[in-house]
Amino acid sequence: MADAAGVAALTLDAVACTFVSKDDASQRYTAVSNVSLTVAAGEFVSVVGPTGCGKSTLLNVAAGLLAPSTGEVRVFGELLAGINRRAGYMFQAESLMPWRTAAQNVTAGLEFRGAADARVQADEWLRRVGLGAFSDRYPHQLSGGMRKRVSLAQTLVLDPDIILMDEPFSALDIQTRQLMENELLALWAAKKKAVLFITHDLDEAIAMSDRVVCLSAGPAAHPIGEFVIDLPRPRDVAEVRVTPRFVELHQAIWSVLRDEVLKGYQQQLAA
Ligand SMILES: Nc1ncnc2c1ncn2[C@@H]1O[C@H](COP(=O)(O)OP(=O)(O)OP(=O)(O)O)[C@@H](O)[C@H]1O
Ligand SMILES: [Mg+2]
Repeated sequence: MADAAGVAALTLDAVACTFVSKDDASQRYTAVSNVSLTVAAGEFVSVVGPTGCGKSTLLNVAAGLLAPSTGEVRVFGELLAGINRRAGYMFQAESLMPWRTAAQNVTAGLEFRGAADARVQADEWLRRVGLGAFSDRYPHQLSGGMRKRVSLAQTLVLDPDIILMDEPFSALDIQTRQLMENELLALWAAKKKAVLFITHDLDEAIAMSDRVVCLSAGPAAHPIGEFVIDLPRPRDVAEVRVTPRFVELHQAIWSVLRDEVLKGYQQQLAA
């Protein structure tokens, strides 16, 4: 899908990633293969797939942290070489610096860019994510949900045109998770950035997205289905889950995903 100018925010074209063992070059594992994927400017796209299939690998490719073995990545039409500077990345694992306060974590990227008003911007974003009163706390003085909010502020303060998120809320309890999902949707609706959102939770993917892409189990994981989510916005992620259309979409996508999830699970057990 492309924007009005015909240029997608992010395009993965026939991407494959093969990892070669450092000890034995004959040992290779092709995690993903022939993955073509686009995210239009302002579009919210989720990628779902079984555990270990290559979701984080694809996000690393989109971020420019990992060069694909074959295929290419384009960012607003330009071939990506090195780090994707138009993208902000929210990692699967917690990634706050424990020796810096919430505000200092949020200012880090801005300081790197040499912004003069880093602290003002950080305070503004901490307020937006509901942490105005906690800017001087260190990560260990915050709850898990609060730390995720700081990470969100840290990503969004840089005003990236593309937001890459790797299961950002999967470690949270269900209530906090739904709050954060709704907050993310509200922030996204205000700014309309391109989002590539990775999750293994199909409910979350449907509730949040404009489009859901399903990946097969690995090796050589690749898209096996793509679904347009035509649920009206604004959405409340908890309320939308009980609507007939949501249930219908869930059934349709799950019928594509089910066997792959079982396959992925069996593979992990065998390994
Ligand atoms: N640097 C690497 N070297 C070797 N193998 C790797 C490397 N990174 C990932 N892999 C392998 O590639 C496959 C995909 O990994 P990836 O982390 O992308 O999966 P995932 O879909 O994000 O899994 P999860 O849902 O558990 O987060 C796995 O089999 C993993 O072991
Ligand atoms: Mg992952």
